[in-house]
Amino acid sequence: MITKSKCINIKFEDFIHTEQGENIFDKTERVNEVLSSPVLTGNEGLGMQIMHEVRPVSIIKEKDGKEHNVIMLGSNSYLNLSTHPQVKEGARKALEKYGYGMGAVSNYAGITQLHRELELRIAEFYNTEDCIVFPSGYGTNVGVISALCNKGDVIINDSANHASIFDGCRLSGADIKIYPHGDMKYLEKILSRIPKEQTGRLIITDGVFSMDGDLAKLDKIKELADYYNCGIMVDDAHGIGVVGETGRGSAQYYKLLGKIDLNVGMLSKSPGGLGGYCASTKNIVQYLRLYARSYFFSTALPAPIAGGLNEVFKLLINDNAGRTKLIENTEYLKQKLFENGFDIGCSQSAIVPVMIYDEQILFKLYNELRYAGVYVNIVTYPAVRRKECRLRLCMMKDLTKEQIDKAVNIISEKGKKYGII
Ligand SMILES: Cc1ncc(COP(=O)(O)O)c(C=O)c1O
Repeated sequence: MITKSKCINIKFEDFIHTEQGENIFDKTERVNEVLSSPVLTGNEGLGMQIMHEVRPVSIIKEKDGKEHNVIMLGSNSYLNLSTHPQVKEGARKALEKYGYGMGAVSNYAGITQLHRELELRIAEFYNTEDCIVFPSGYGTNVGVISALCNKGDVIINDSANHASIFDGCRLSGADIKIYPHGDMKYLEKILSRIPKEQTGRLIITDGVFSMDGDLAKLDKIKELADYYNCGIMVDDAHGIGVVGETGRGSAQYYKLLGKIDLNVGMLSKSPGGLGGYCASTKNIVQYLRLYARSYFFSTALPAPIAGGLNEVFKLLINDNAGRTKLIENTEYLKQKLFENGFDIGCSQSAIVPVMIYDEQILFKLYNELRYAGVYVNIVTYPAVRRKECRLRLCMMKDLTKEQIDKAVNIISEKGKKYGII
């Protein structure tokens, strides 16, 4: 029987290992005992369902079956492209023409003309020679890194890089070095100590960091990479469509478009679909088609997704897909939260962290906010260190000022109740 005081001390990582005398499945029973106990575990709001397409005000269904409205500040569909009429029409046409699944991996006749058009549009977007599209964002990082890097190579990572990057690094067998988030002096220290003979070198960074919303210092990273003969890979999952003068992402922000070796991004965030890509040279893209195992051994993106994404890139290339309104909304939200006394870090994107620093308060706030009508993301271990736990707010282009005001009022009321402001 799990008691309240015991439950408060239970942590995610308590269930990773098989205890002495257990078989490999016993831990699943232990974790489920906690999840089904009546005490607060912080998991109450995980896995609730959304009742229709993602809208600025959405209806969600709680685990207890209750449905209610929430102002949606927890979706990465920043530009509302997942519901854009032109995008839906592109997906619908592709569905009629090609059916809903591809039935084969890309190299074995699993792709259509739409898939190739999508790759070429993304290459145009980044001003690169070519591009490869993967069926999953997570699999893009794992595939690209493990294909290009091997035992004997060295990969240098920002500590706040996404989990899929670290998983790709581990799979590659390369030496993994990590510098504290954004610490360029430390990065240089690492680079200066790499033995001369170790010539296979890659610096990997998120373009926009997914938990803080800040940008990588790509100008400095590029300077160091050139000096120390390193390749650069940028995962701009949260930068595409959002950051840079015309939404080309963090490389554009730093005037480095066309100068990054591996332009990786996800088609699941502002593009509102699914999958990931790596825009690069013809040689690198062709190499990845053969050696990235998450591409070679995984069924291609469904054609309706490719059809929708082609429309997304037309919108992004031709008119920035409403980026200006998204930026206005985000600045407005940040200003309001700041005026109300919240610690919101240093976001430069559509992701706004609200620092809480206390996990028990975080769980309570998250649940109360949801029931009060505001949906935000809860962020703690393993996404960030427990003492840096936070709420994460993701802005949407189609939210109105009135909806943002209402959300901030509710967050402030709860923030006061728990002594956050
Ligand atoms: C920075 C970053 N990279 C990669 C991924 C993985 O993308 P996907 O969810 O499309 O698999 C995510 C998504 O959480 C992300 O935030």
